[in-house]
Amino acid sequence: MIFQADLLQGQVALVTGGGTGIGAVISHELARHGAQVAIASRDPEHHRGIIGEIESLGQEALALSADVRRPDQVQTMVQQVLDKFGRLDILVNNAAGNFLCAAEQLSYNGWKAVVDIVLNGSFIVSQAVLPSMKTQKGGNIINIGATYAWLAAPYLAHSGAAKAGVLNLTRTLAVEWAGYGIRVNAVTPGPIEGTEGVSRLMGNPQVREATIRSIPLRRLGKKEEIAWAILYLLSPAAAYVTGHNLVVDGGMCLGSRQYGAEG
Ligand code: HXC
Ligand code: NAP
Repeated sequence: MIFQADLLQGQVALVTGGGTGIGAVISHELARHGAQVAIASRDPEHHRGIIGEIESLGQEALALSADVRRPDQVQTMVQQVLDKFGRLDILVNNAAGNFLCAAEQLSYNGWKAVVDIVLNGSFIVSQAVLPSMKTQKGGNIINIGATYAWLAAPYLAHSGAAKAGVLNLTRTLAVEWAGYGIRVNAVTPGPIEGTEGVSRLMGNPQVREATIRSIPLRRLGKKEEIAWAILYLLSPAAAYVTGHNLVVDGGMCLGSRQYGAEG
């Protein structure tokens, strides 16, 4: 245990897309550090495993069906969290959609599906949790980024543009909502082992190997490493940190091509 086991005792967290991949490990780690956790995504089948895991830690968990693109469903989702737990302290905007497609071939619906989930969804859910965080005089919002948000993102025009928007939204909300005691930060993963994102983008073993060679720490990340970055940002150690983007990518985005070095 890196952080104190009761770090988040008494706090309630909502994790969008919290039933699979990185989101499920974030949900698990928040619960393991004392939070009551609500998990929301479109398909309730995705929640079964993690809800059982959290309950086996002795923590309460709530599984909700909601599409982050639908303001009506998001309002209901937030109300369900408040009805069950009576408060809401932490939001992790983790839900995302992504697929490889050349911009030339990308249909408007394909562009819109990803931008709606990633950027519009993060805005809709953040705005929906605001009233309860304002009433409580505090809260924490964590947005999940992607390293290609500040580089060119070939075959990922939709996701690159949406994640870039999420990082700007992070900074803007951090300023606008600081007066309410709400901190807004982002955590940006590099490629993470065993996730849908990596299987969609790096299904080809040669692409995967080339990616690992481009990472100074020479490995993909672990899901837990994203959750631990979030725990830091939620902890009192980060009480003076807002609008920050914490990059967890083994140095990949530094672009440190090592001339003369092997591999
Ligand atoms: C081209 C595609 C496509 C593909 C969908 N579309 N997949 N176009 N290539 N592979 C197009 C469809 O044809 C349609 O356009 C439009 O996108 C909407 O498709 P739907 O299937 O109706 O959308 P929807 O059911 O809303 O699903 C959203 C989705 C889907 C994003 C398309 O893939 C999804 O639900 N993804 C969630 C899981 C996920 O993506 N996880 C990865 C996150 S990882 P037309 O014109 O035909 O109507 C990540 C970063 C990874 O974000 C970084 C790793 C390093
Ligand atoms: P994942 O397992 O596919 O997680 C995405 C989640 O979002 C799913 O649980 C999905 O659940 C949910 N979701 C999708 N559309 C939704 C919608 N409209 N409304 C509500 N929920 C929705 O992907 P992952 O690879 O773990 O990625 C998690 C996060 O990390 C994403 O923000 C991603 O961009 C980011 N990231 C990942 C990597 C990586 O290496 N994997 C790298 C950089 C950034 P439902 O299908 O049930 O809705």
